[in-house]
Amino acid sequence: MTDTQRIVTADESDKINFTEMYVTHDGFRRDLERLSAAAAAGKTNSPQVQDGWENFKRQLHVHHTVEDAWLWPNLTRRVAGRPDDLALLEAMEAEHAVLDPQLAAVDEAMRTNAADLPERVETLRSVLEQHLTHEEEDALPLIQEVLTPKDWKGFRGAMARKQKLNGASVWIPWIVDGMSPSDAQKFLARMPPPLRLFYKLSWDARYRNRNMFSF
Ligand SMILES: [Fe+2]
Repeated sequence: MTDTQRIVTADESDKINFTEMYVTHDGFRRDLERLSAAAAAGKTNSPQVQDGWENFKRQLHVHHTVEDAWLWPNLTRRVAGRPDDLALLEAMEAEHAVLDPQLAAVDEAMRTNAADLPERVETLRSVLEQHLTHEEEDALPLIQEVLTPKDWKGFRGAMARKQKLNGASVWIPWIVDGMSPSDAQKFLARMPPPLRLFYKLSWDARYRNRNMFSF
């Protein structure tokens, strides 16, 4: 649990703050690392591992659905006439689509106790890692260049509408899971005060009780 450089507390008026994007990506990475450990130990039948996997799929689905519905289309309009950037955005959508069969392959292997589950998890992990790295290294700089902090508020608003309060009640503790205390504090400081209060009063404890991915 070391601090990351990915949580930026202060918002600058002329620069987009990508904190929520980075910590969500790191949540996906952490979950697949945990799934990989469970698969290697042959313990994916554990109800907590199953619960963690279901939650991982839900978080990934929400994240990619809003990127596909809001982010890539808005960016596409801004980079009209720039073929390299348009190709990058097409690649982002295509990479999301490539993940679906990999998710289904793991799903099926979990359901049938297939012997090659660990390999399928590793394939999913590497396909997702390639996508997240591509997005962080190439798409985020493009977003920083062509969208404004006000636009980004629109994206975060679309994400919040998709998650709703019920989704936030899991997303916030899911993000904090495994963070260093100082990173957790920095991240939580970015959340609206009412959500922070709900988190402290009940969401954190409820999430911890689920013990996702334990076996
Ligand atoms: Fe993303």
